[in-house]
Amino acid sequence: MKGGVGKTTSVVEIGTILATDHDKSVLIIDLDPQTNATFSLMKLDDWDNIKDTATIADVLGMNKGFSSRDEEYDINDAIIENVGGIDGLDLIPSHLELTFLDLDLGAQAGREHILSNQLKKCVKEYDYILIDCPPNLTVAPQNALVISDYILVPVAPEFYAAIGLPLLSNRVTQLKKRLPGCKVEILGVIFTQVRNTNDHNHHLNEIRTTCNGDLNIETFQTVIPFTTKISEAAKWNRPASLTNPDSNGVQAYKSLTQELLLTLEEV
Ligand SMILES: Nc1ncnc2c1ncn2[C@@H]1O[C@H](COP(=O)(O)OP(=O)(O)O)[C@@H](O)[C@H]1O
Ligand SMILES: [Mg+2]
Repeated sequence: MKGGVGKTTSVVEIGTILATDHDKSVLIIDLDPQTNATFSLMKLDDWDNIKDTATIADVLGMNKGFSSRDEEYDINDAIIENVGGIDGLDLIPSHLELTFLDLDLGAQAGREHILSNQLKKCVKEYDYILIDCPPNLTVAPQNALVISDYILVPVAPEFYAAIGLPLLSNRVTQLKKRLPGCKVEILGVIFTQVRNTNDHNHHLNEIRTTCNGDLNIETFQTVIPFTTKISEAAKWNRPASLTNPDSNGVQAYKSLTQELLLTLEEV
């Protein structure tokens, strides 16, 4: 529920590594109106060509009338296969319009299940679907929670993170009671943008202790260091794992992906 902590970066890098290094079939859904995941993977010109007919806004029925919205659009039309020439990685791009989803839908019944109904129509089978969420729990991310097995929580080891985590955990528990069929669990906390400073070390250890204690949330052993090589990649509209494969940030995301796959085998 915090901005700028590495949610989008983690989705893009882990998704790419699963496809390129582990031969997995992966779909990234960009559910954030800020469209950062989209532009980490495709150029503005290419997005311009599809933005009016083939984004997550269309999938969620925003360009249609209000009745039986999810029947009117075919999600397969919004999937860009092998995005940016990356074999095995598909993308459903986002649109700024998504900001108005809550206003559009009002209190419409079943509004949390539109993406779920759409995904049932998806022709391709994926090993993993990664959904990049905005830093809130509005209707779009609720659509994501309903269909997800797990939540990954990127955390930059700073003071405010310690406050946000219990809040997120409580909110997810409440949502699960309210949303039928929602079985999502928090899989674990990923420490991102970690600097080798006393301050970061202190908060990282403190948050790990709290998670493993009272909160009962797992934390991944692999931590992602702060490195400009990661933020630089965005200007090429390419994941850092492809533009800077040898950087320590990318190596960390590769280890994390391996740890993630092992964790998923164990749960
Ligand atoms: N490990 C990292 N080291 C340095 N910069 C990073 C790292 N992870 C993310 N960033 C940068 O920080 C900013 C916010 O990251 P982002 O993934 O967009 O966060 P969020 O999706 O949580 O808002 C972006 O400019 C991104 O390139
Ligand atoms: Mg983001």
